[in-house]
Amino acid sequence: MTQPFKRTTVTTALPYANGPVHIGHLAGVYVPADIYVRYLRLKKQDVLFIGGSDEHGVPITLKAKKEGVSPQDIVDRYHNIIKQSFEEFGITFDIYSRTTSSTHRRIASDFFKKLYDKGEFIEKTSEQYYDETAKQFLADRYIMGTCPHCKNDKAYGDQCESCGTSLNATDLIEPYSVISGSKPVMKETKHWYLPLDRYEPFLKQWILEEHKEWKPNVYGQCKSWIDMGLQPRAVSRDLDWGIPVPVDGAEGKVLYVWFDAPIGYISNTAELLPDSWETWWKDPETRLVHFIGKDNIVFHCIVFPTMLKAEGSFILPDNVPANEFLNLEGDKISTSRNWAVWLHEYLQDFPNQQDVLRYVLTANAPETKDNDFTWKDFQARNNNELVAVFGNFINRAMVLTHKYFEGKVPERSAWTEYDLATLEEFVSVKKDVEALLDIFKFRDAQKEAMNLARIGNKYLADTEPWKLAKTDMPRVATILNLSLQIAANLAIAFEPFLPFTSEKLRRMLQMSSCEWNLLGSVDLLATGNHLRKPELLFEKIDDAVMEQQVQKLLNTKAQNASAEQKSAPAKENIDFDSFAKMDIRVGRILEAERVPKTSKLMQLKVDTGIDQRTVISGIAEQYKPEDIIGKQVCILVNLEPRKLKGIESQGMILMSEDSAGKLSFVQPAVDTENGSCVR
Ligand code: 2FM
Ligand code: ZN
Repeated sequence: MTQPFKRTTVTTALPYANGPVHIGHLAGVYVPADIYVRYLRLKKQDVLFIGGSDEHGVPITLKAKKEGVSPQDIVDRYHNIIKQSFEEFGITFDIYSRTTSSTHRRIASDFFKKLYDKGEFIEKTSEQYYDETAKQFLADRYIMGTCPHCKNDKAYGDQCESCGTSLNATDLIEPYSVISGSKPVMKETKHWYLPLDRYEPFLKQWILEEHKEWKPNVYGQCKSWIDMGLQPRAVSRDLDWGIPVPVDGAEGKVLYVWFDAPIGYISNTAELLPDSWETWWKDPETRLVHFIGKDNIVFHCIVFPTMLKAEGSFILPDNVPANEFLNLEGDKISTSRNWAVWLHEYLQDFPNQQDVLRYVLTANAPETKDNDFTWKDFQARNNNELVAVFGNFINRAMVLTHKYFEGKVPERSAWTEYDLATLEEFVSVKKDVEALLDIFKFRDAQKEAMNLARIGNKYLADTEPWKLAKTDMPRVATILNLSLQIAANLAIAFEPFLPFTSEKLRRMLQMSSCEWNLLGSVDLLATGNHLRKPELLFEKIDDAVMEQQVQKLLNTKAQNASAEQKSAPAKENIDFDSFAKMDIRVGRILEAERVPKTSKLMQLKVDTGIDQRTVISGIAEQYKPEDIIGKQVCILVNLEPRKLKGIESQGMILMSEDSAGKLSFVQPAVDTENGSCVR
């Protein structure tokens, strides 16, 4: 931002109202945006925080079709769930509205009309995929096929989620209709296109020259789009769910969801401030910041700014601090595979612990690269940082004040040199946190804020006021006064990050004001100020609680694997003679030992009733030798012998394998004579 500014409009990507929100949403977009907004508010800046649900587009209609309900039913349901989750996690939107609102319909429609009247669109008839069974054009995600880049056979008509490439439906190999499964045909249809190519010189100058300060991941993606050469983009679709294209001859056509959704930011502002919304969107002294995930970069840095520029009266985004993705326990978060930690479920399992999740997601935010959320890390950060550092410091300072000074802020006397050194350290925290927040480095900013608690903890540990209580009460008073002032500083510094904790702490300390500019002060609490009874800010999380969460995910994995396995086709039929060729016998394991230098293989000696022979079996990861000696098993005895790790294996032990990969012995139901045939 080169010009001085008077106010900031902050927007967050409008999530599709086709499912609840999960930790990936929170970490990537909503927590960072909320931290930023709370920080600006604490600095008494004028800021407006705009959110809402994205309720048009194919993701919604597909979900409705799957459930046999109307798209309106879907968006009503999820808009409310999402809105509630955001409220519960303390995301302080000034408005959270929706793109099915009447204000949005009017504003988006007028926006299109204005560009249309200005001659900004290209009108073009082209051939697009059409499903003859469903009698419908197959827009975006209504068509699937094989990705030409990575050969993923579940790529969508607009994007391959496996390699992240943005696609045109005609790029797909062996495309098929998601509605009927049939092979689509080509059919002519008319659409309106935004000629991004015409705006290439403007975008080059505006982004590549004037916004070199954007985050490298954002700048880099923009540069590669621009370097590849921009093409006109269709801004309408043949669909019956969306905002009708407001021109003659456009029956059955709606605005493309990516045309109307970003306009939702404007309409939601207008819904909140019908008389003054334009100040927040058109005044050059307003700064516009979009918080989004990396899959939305092209729309917010290239397409939407081109729309705003073409319209002519709007400001352009000043910054788009997009994050990368958060994975969960090593795997990509996926709504369809239920591989997520859903916010509403988290709160059922961890009531009132919103701040723990906010803290962990910020500490691990995918700011520069994809990152991983693990329950182990969640537990460690809670126990070793929130409980052991932050909570412990506050608790000690509070308990000691109650013990020695009846809960009143004691009067301090002269600082010692050690006090002064501590003061110097903690006074610099304000400018350090600020410098990081200003450039959207939330994870480092939170780390810096946490340093305050570390400073406080160290101060108490080094000065040991509990040892001085018998001999030097004035010194104890000074130490506790300074400790309580640090605690009050923590309440301010953490208000953007951990708002629930900050509020609780302010209540405990009976703080009257909370302003960013007071950070660094040692006079936040007046002498004699009465503190409330200390309450624990954080609680330790036990291994058993984490194991439950991990088990929940393992169950999901097993369900997914079983769903995949269920859909795997049965093997080809064989004739009876082929089956009869197999000589399967009941046998007993006499000896068992692991095959050295392998993790899977076990060497067994088996009594087959015919002989005693050596068999190598791939069970060593799941069974211990001592647990299987003496077991009856079924063994294929006429399998051609083969060498494994230099040992000849003479047969095969039959095992069943479930969808999660668990191996179980196939055994006769009652103990049976060795050598009995299995037919
Ligand atoms: O990716 C998504 O979830 C989109 N619904 C984001 C839209 S952002 C904005 F343009 F509204
Ligand atoms: Zn691909």
